[in-house]
Amino acid sequence: MPSPPTTPMFYNGASELDLTAAGEALRAGKLIAFPTETVYGLGADATNADAVRKIFSAKKRPQDNPLIVHLSSPHDVQTQLLTPLPLPAAAARLIAAFWPGPLTLVLPLHPQTRLAGAVTAGLRSVGLRVPKHPVAAALLARAGVPVAAPSANLSGRPSPTCAAHVMRDLGRGGVLEGVVDGGEGELFCGVESTVVDLSRGEEEVAVLRPGAVSAVEIEAVAGVRVRRYVGRDYGEGERVVAPGMKYRHYAPRAPLFVVKGGRLGEEIEVWRGKGEVVGVLGEKEVCERVGGVEGVRTVVCGGRGDVGSFARELYKGLRAFDGEGELSVDEVGVILAVPPKDVDDGIGEAILNRLIKAAAAGSIS
Ligand code: TXA
Ligand code: MG
Repeated sequence: MPSPPTTPMFYNGASELDLTAAGEALRAGKLIAFPTETVYGLGADATNADAVRKIFSAKKRPQDNPLIVHLSSPHDVQTQLLTPLPLPAAAARLIAAFWPGPLTLVLPLHPQTRLAGAVTAGLRSVGLRVPKHPVAAALLARAGVPVAAPSANLSGRPSPTCAAHVMRDLGRGGVLEGVVDGGEGELFCGVESTVVDLSRGEEEVAVLRPGAVSAVEIEAVAGVRVRRYVGRDYGEGERVVAPGMKYRHYAPRAPLFVVKGGRLGEEIEVWRGKGEVVGVLGEKEVCERVGGVEGVRTVVCGGRGDVGSFARELYKGLRAFDGEGELSVDEVGVILAVPPKDVDDGIGEAILNRLIKAAAAGSIS
C-alpha cells in the first residue's frame, strides 16, 4: 500500500485538468484545501465519515464544532436530503438573493440525511453554503458530492487567505492531499461567511457570525426580525475579553488588544513603558502616524474608509506578527489593533468581531 503523501499536491485553480484531479481526490475521501470568496476551506466529502474525521484531526478542531457543507448549486438543497422541504420562506428569499455568495444558512437537518454525523457535531441542524468563487464552484461541480469545509487553518489561528497560509498550517501533517491555488489577490471578502440561524423558526432568526452580507440586508430580504450576535462593544483602549468565548480564534501568538484610534498614542506609551516592543495593526493613515516611534512595528490593513481592503488584508496582517509572509515584522510583545471607524454593519462589523475574538484568545494564552 502506498504511504500517505508527506508533501501536499499543488493544484492550479486555472487548470481544468488539475480541478478534475482535485475533484476526484475529494470523491476518493481525500482532504483538499481550496479558495473561496471568503477564506480557504479544508474540504472533504461530507457523506464520508472517515474523510470528515480527518478534517478534525488535521485542524486539531474540537469535535463539538460543526462544519459548513459546501454545495455547487442552490439546486443541491432540493436533491441531496440535507434539510426538509419546502424551505422556510425566509430561507428561500435569502438563497435567491445571496447564493452563490458569502452567506451560510443554518437549517433543520434532514432526518434521512447521508451527511456524516461528525459534520453537524450531532446537532439537528446543518450549515449550508454555495460559494461564488469560480475555482470553488468549478471544484465542487467536479467533486459531485457535498463538501464539508471549515477554514483551512489550524484551530485557533487566523484563517488562510492564500495557499501559502494553508501550507504553513497544514502542510506538514501528511493528512492534506493537496491545495488548489486560487492565485494572488482574488478572494473577494477575506473574512468568513455570514452565518444565519434559520433552524429555530422565523421568530428566532439570528446572525451567529457577521460577514460581508450584513444583518441589515438579511433583515430586509428575509422579511423577518434578525437578532445580532452579542459582544459588539469594545472598551476604550482596555484589554478586551469577550465573555463566554469557548474557543481560541483568529489569534496571533502575542496578546492582542482592540484600541480606538484616538487612544493609540497613549496605549503605545503604556506598553513601551513596560519595556515591550509594540505591534500596531490598522489603516495606512493610522500606521503612518505611529510608524516612526521607536519600538513600534506596524502592519497596514487597507486605508481610511476602505473596510473592504481592511478585511482582505486582515488575516495576512495578523499572520505577519507571527513572522509570516511579505508583511512579516520582528517579534512584538503586544499587538494593538485599531479597527476601522465604520463597524456598525456588514464587513466592518465582521472585522471588529474577528479582532475581539483574537483579543479574547490573547487574554487566556
Ligand atoms: O466563509 C466560510 O464560512 C469558510 C469557507 C471555507 O467557506 N468556512 C468557515 O468554516 O469559516 P469554519 O468551520 O471555520 O466556521 C464555521 C462556523 C463555525 O462557527 C460553526 O460553529 C458554525 O459555522 N456552524 C456550522 N454549522 C453550524 C450549525 N449547524 N449550527 C450552528 N453553527 C454552525
Ligand atoms: Mg474557522
